[in-house]
Amino acid sequence: MNSLVVVGAQWGDEGKGKIVNYLAEKADVIIRYQGGDNAGHTVKFNGKEFHLRTIPSGIFYEEKVNLLGNGMVINPLSLVKEMDELKKEGYTSSNLYISSQATLDLIYDIELDGLKEAKLSSKKIGTTKKGIGPSYTDKAERSSLRMSDLKDEDFLTILENKINEKNALIEFYGGNKINFEEYKEEYRKAREILLPHIIESVPFVAKLRKENKKILFEGAQGTMLDVDFGTFPYVTSSNVIAGGAISGSGIGLGYIEGALGIIKSYTTRVGEGPFVTELFDDTATKIREDAHEYGVNTHRARRIGWLDLVQLKYSQSVNGFKYGALMLLDILKDVNEIKACVAYSLDGKTIDYLPTSLKELERCKPIYKTFPSFKEDISKCKSYEELPIEAKNYINFIEEFLGIEIVIVSVGKDKSETIIRKEIF
Ligand code: IMO
Ligand code: MG
Repeated sequence: MNSLVVVGAQWGDEGKGKIVNYLAEKADVIIRYQGGDNAGHTVKFNGKEFHLRTIPSGIFYEEKVNLLGNGMVINPLSLVKEMDELKKEGYTSSNLYISSQATLDLIYDIELDGLKEAKLSSKKIGTTKKGIGPSYTDKAERSSLRMSDLKDEDFLTILENKINEKNALIEFYGGNKINFEEYKEEYRKAREILLPHIIESVPFVAKLRKENKKILFEGAQGTMLDVDFGTFPYVTSSNVIAGGAISGSGIGLGYIEGALGIIKSYTTRVGEGPFVTELFDDTATKIREDAHEYGVNTHRARRIGWLDLVQLKYSQSVNGFKYGALMLLDILKDVNEIKACVAYSLDGKTIDYLPTSLKELERCKPIYKTFPSFKEDISKCKSYEELPIEAKNYINFIEEFLGIEIVIVSVGKDKSETIIRKEIF
C-alpha cells in the first residue's frame, strides 16, 4: 500500500505512536488529520522516550514530510513548546508543515473547556482541558480563527478582538476575563516561529501524491471517541475514524488504499463514559502498573478492562480496517486468565452489537470467552511462531472474530520488540 491510515480501534492510547514511528521509516509523508494536543503519543526513538502531542510521530526522520492537516485544532503556544522540546534533543522541525486551513486552538478555548467541564460537574466528560471541544465548536459555528489568520499581519489585533468577545462568555461561565496583554508577547513569538511552516496543504498533498510518495496518516484518539460513532457525549469533538483522514487532510477519497486498526490487547479508557468490560480488581491494578497506564497528558490513571470484541467489531466496521496491530501483548503475561468479551447481555437478552443508547450500553454486561494465559517473557520473540501457544490462540481468535489479519504484534515498548507478520506498507 502506498497510503495507509493508522487508526485507534478503541478509546485511544492503543500504541499508535509506536506503530506510526515504525511505519514512518518506510513512509515519505506523515499526516495528522484530526485532534490536537489532546493526543499523547509515546515514541521510543534511539533509546529515548518522547511524548508527542501535536507533532506527527515521523518528526524524528529529517528527510520525511510531517504535516499537520486541516482537520486539526492547533494550539500555537503548545506547538511551539513541543518544537522547542524536540530542538533540545536535536530535532529541528524543519520537516514540519502546517495546513493554512487548520483551526487555531486559543487561550479562550482552553479557558472555556475547563469552565464548561466544571459547570457540568458530575456529568462532566473528563476532557483533557486543552480547548479541543470549544475550538471545534467555533469551527462548526464558522467563527474560529485559522492558521491562515495567523499569517495576517494584524493577527494580534484579530486575537485581541476575539478575546474581548469571548470574555463575555467566560464571565457567563463564572471565569475571570482574559487579559490579552498577558499573552500578547507569547503569541507574537509563536506566530513568528510558525509562519514559515504554514502551507497550502491541498496542492502540497496533491504534489506528493503525484510523485508517488508513500503517505501515512496518523490518527489520534480512538474510534470510540469519534464525535459521530463514539460513546457520545463522552467523546472528543473530531472524526477520529479512518474516514476522517479524507476530510482532515485534503487527500481525495480514491487515494487512500487502506487502514490499520491499532488494538490494545486489553482495553483502557481515560475520562468518563460507559465501559462494559471495565475491571476494578487486582488484575486491573496489575495491568495499570505493569503497563504504566497513566495519561501522557493529564497523568490520570487510565481505567482498565478486558478486550471487548463487540466494540472492536463495531470499530472494524466504521473504519473498514482489514489489518490490525495487536499492542501490549506482553502485559498479559502472568494474569491468571485472559478474557475477551464476545457478546453483551442486555436486560437478560444476549446481543452481538453495541447499543448506541448510553442508557442501554450502561446496562450491558459482558459475556466472556476465557483463554489460558502465558507465563513466558515474550518480549524477545521475533516471530509469531516463537510465541507461546496460548498467545497464538488469543491472536487467532481475535483475527477470526473480527475477520481481519493481525499483521503486527507488539511484545514490548521498544521498537525492536515488535513482531512483523506481514508487510502491508
Ligand atoms: P491519544 O491520541 C485517550 C479523551 C478524554 C476525554 C475525551 C474528550 O493519545 O490516544 P477532549 O480533550 O478530546 O475534548 O476529551 O477524549 N481523550 C483521549 N483518551 N487518548 C487520547 O489521545 C485522548 N484524547 C482525548 O480523556 O474522555
Ligand atoms: Mg495517548
